[in-house]
Amino acid sequence: MATVKYSLEEFVHDMDALLENNPNHEKIFDRGSSYLERLIRNPEAIPAEYRRPLGRGPRPGHGTYKLHQGDNGLSVSSVVWGPGDHVDPHDHHTWGMIGVIENFLGETRFRRLDDRSRKDYALLEKDRLAISKPGEVSLLIPEVDEIHQIDNETDRPTVEIHVYGHPLMGLNRCKFDLATGKVTPFTSGKADNE
Ligand SMILES: [Fe+2]
Repeated sequence: MATVKYSLEEFVHDMDALLENNPNHEKIFDRGSSYLERLIRNPEAIPAEYRRPLGRGPRPGHGTYKLHQGDNGLSVSSVVWGPGDHVDPHDHHTWGMIGVIENFLGETRFRRLDDRSRKDYALLEKDRLAISKPGEVSLLIPEVDEIHQIDNETDRPTVEIHVYGHPLMGLNRCKFDLATGKVTPFTSGKADNE
């Protein structure tokens, strides 16, 4: 039986329709994650050049590629994590869905224990470590469950699709130092294909 492949355009169309009536996070994740699961089942939906490391610059093993940016905030990108890639715990300040297309990725989630009264300090506790596998989608729920650390401990690149309700570029976010509790504000720069 022929399999009908789900394209990036169809994914964006379905997400746009879903977001039209300002649904709550539960509805976005419920429907949206099933759309994303369909998309990541078909790696060819993403151009091959956006499924490999950039191969140049300060992080040649990494790659971040913008795939879609809508007026409604919907932001879709592919992210390639090279072997040994590590990113310290950080938050997102938007809802997010992350689906793995290729290889595995370690994602450590943290919960915040302090009362958030200080801008420069946070007390984090490790919640869980998940090894994300191809076909799996993890969710970022603002203020509830959205702080994670990323590690690619394998010897080859991992490819993911990131879907956010707001473009990360220019969004004021926070990095966390587990040892000292220090909070450092940061913003993401442009994607590698912009
Ligand atoms: Fe992240």
